[in-house]
Amino acid sequence: MNLECNLTVLYRKMFSSKVGCLVLGVSCFKPARVRSGPLRPGLRTGFSWTSVCQQRSLWLRRSALMNNNQGALHCQASVRSVSQTTVDPNEVRRFQSLASKWWDEQGEFAALHAMNDLRVPFIRDNLLNIHRGRQTAKPLAGLKILDVGCGGGLLTEPLGRLGASVLGIDPVEDSIGTAQLHSSYDPDLRHRVRYRACSLEELTSERPEGAEAGEEVVGQFDAVVASEVVEHLADLETFAYCCSLVLKPGGSLLITTLNKTNLSWLLGILVAENVLRIVPQGTHEWEKFISPEELERLLESNGFSVQSVKGMLYNPVTGAWSWTDSTAINYALHAVKPRDEPLVHQVEEDSPHPQDSTTHG
Ligand SMILES: C[S@@+](CC[C@H](N)C(=O)[O-])C[C@H]1O[C@@H](n2cnc3c(N)ncnc32)[C@H](O)[C@@H]1O
Repeated sequence: MNLECNLTVLYRKMFSSKVGCLVLGVSCFKPARVRSGPLRPGLRTGFSWTSVCQQRSLWLRRSALMNNNQGALHCQASVRSVSQTTVDPNEVRRFQSLASKWWDEQGEFAALHAMNDLRVPFIRDNLLNIHRGRQTAKPLAGLKILDVGCGGGLLTEPLGRLGASVLGIDPVEDSIGTAQLHSSYDPDLRHRVRYRACSLEELTSERPEGAEAGEEVVGQFDAVVASEVVEHLADLETFAYCCSLVLKPGGSLLITTLNKTNLSWLLGILVAENVLRIVPQGTHEWEKFISPEELERLLESNGFSVQSVKGMLYNPVTGAWSWTDSTAINYALHAVKPRDEPLVHQVEEDSPHPQDSTTHG
């Protein structure tokens, strides 16, 4: 009990005085960066696996582009070369047990309901910066959005209400059932929001059950949204590659997730899950969190250009989220797939086709 009280007090103090910097080390409380345009080349140096990922994704992209030219059927074949899955069976089990709770605003997903106040404007405004001159009532009308890991549709629905045509996907069938039932109560969403129980790689690799004939996903979406999802995936490289594949050139990828810091472990797991019980126990594994820098490297190695990274902070007392200069716990990221594909030429130079590998030594 004393531990609980002390941690709660500590958590509250951190919000008012950022005393967490002193307690946990200033290094984990870095200011957020908000940028325009691509990263400077100098920032690209990093772990040695980056170049390995880069080569792999360039090669995969070349296959996709080559196959794109030969028709949709071949697109599917190229994506099948992604052998990894993003699905972690433990995560599916965990969310399966919560599938009926999505729309309880005071329940297990209360923090996600509250996050809409921040993430919906974040998504809307970043998209409007790119797609200018839209009418105000339905500003996202005409845009196609893929909501990856949509759960019960907490974010899918407001995006549909802003006029977007949204496809929500999630590997947990019961969550998709909950999402479908809930959106069916709003006639405004009937033609704008659709759901499908599948993973992103399943969506891109084969025509999922229930998909209409001729319905392609490759290069079809103006935006991919993955909010509080990447920390639950088994393979981020496959995720990034598939996101690039389904996006139109110039399309946006919008992510919210947790940083991998001491503070995110203390507040995001220990306090949030075990002390204050804001989030169901066992929801997060710290090992699967990712820092903004690492996420940027991964996305850029898959051809994205990261536009902005913003820190987010949850106040457990008020139950509200706010923007903050620090990305130490939660953050939002916006990346863009380039409009043209200079990589085609780059691939020719950088990455020999496997059949050519012997001649290139
Ligand atoms: C914390 S919830 C976020 C739900 C929703 N994005 C929101 O913010 O309301 C994480 C979601 O990711 C889903 N998920 C887990 N593994 C996934 C995968 N490999 N592909 C897509 N979604 C996945 C879970 O089923 C769950 O619905």
